[in-house]
Amino acid sequence: MENEIESLKSSSQKEIAETKSLKDLEALKLAYFGAKGKVALLTKRLGTLSLAEKADFGKKVNELKNYINQTLNTKYQTLNTSTAKQEWLDVTAPGIKPEIGHLHLVTQAIEEITRIFERIGFTRVRYPEIDWEWYAFESLNMPKNHPARDDFETFFIDAPTSLQYGKMVLSPHTSSGQVREMERLNHKPPIRMINIAKCYRPNWDVSHIPMFHQFEGLVVDEGINITHLKGVMDYFAKNFFGPKRETRLRPFHFQFTEPSFEVDINCGVCLGKGKLPDGSTCRLCKEGWMELGGSGMVHPNVLKAGKIDSNKYTGFAFGWGVERTFMMKSGTKLDDIRLLYSNDIRFLEQF
Ligand code: DAH
Repeated sequence: MENEIESLKSSSQKEIAETKSLKDLEALKLAYFGAKGKVALLTKRLGTLSLAEKADFGKKVNELKNYINQTLNTKYQTLNTSTAKQEWLDVTAPGIKPEIGHLHLVTQAIEEITRIFERIGFTRVRYPEIDWEWYAFESLNMPKNHPARDDFETFFIDAPTSLQYGKMVLSPHTSSGQVREMERLNHKPPIRMINIAKCYRPNWDVSHIPMFHQFEGLVVDEGINITHLKGVMDYFAKNFFGPKRETRLRPFHFQFTEPSFEVDINCGVCLGKGKLPDGSTCRLCKEGWMELGGSGMVHPNVLKAGKIDSNKYTGFAFGWGVERTFMMKSGTKLDDIRLLYSNDIRFLEQF
């Protein structure tokens, strides 16, 4: 009989453990504790025992009952809570927000620049990132061995040299698209190009990366003069940076423009004053203006390279860095251009 108690104990434990629903658990309870259940059958045996045996047996049956009861209860709790979990829906709980990414900051800047120039009739183009030396230099009035080429520290490609076009280079500036655009339009102005593309120069520090972007404007038509250049610069400054911004042209030298200028924009913090209302020096610009990039009136030799009559047509051009221009706009005072390309989500998602 002792054995029976033991085996009932272990079989009940097994059966309860295997039960998967409250309904089955209910049926199991009946199978043990019902009027004709397994425990009842065991209790019936009591009558056949001696007084001493009765006491001992009765005690063990009671222990068994308690054991089964407790196991049933524990199982009941488990099944009950997991069923509740399945069926219960908290309609007030906030939903799970899918993570939404966005275009890279530089791509966003390129889109915005494109839209701004499109509104005044410029066509967005892109020209090869690997180009001939001729388009990057000769066509831009920089003959072979001209020292001005040094300013455009250049990656040369290990490829056969062309008699006509020279070596192959990783395009060091978007100006190499100027004569290509003249060719694309069959040397027939009007030209209103905005060339936005990757450029390469072997530099790596807080304000330089070996791969960066420039946007290059080129306008060629009859009667184009410096006031058109200045007007377009101001139009861009106001649209990209805000209505209170304007530009100034500062004399400079480029081989492919004559005259040439560097374009400055009035500082967004002190608006060109260099001083704050309390009389202290503006910490961002220190003198009221910040340099944006180069520009000028297209040199007649460049028009000639593009087979355009420089007696009939004139033009202006400008070329600025996209990353630099974006960094000046963002107002975050980014102090390292390389952050833009470190692919650190924690940085990128702040914008
Ligand atoms: N290509 C020049 C550079 O990378 C920038 C530049 C200056 C472009 C004057 C122009 C220009 O179109 O007219 O430094």
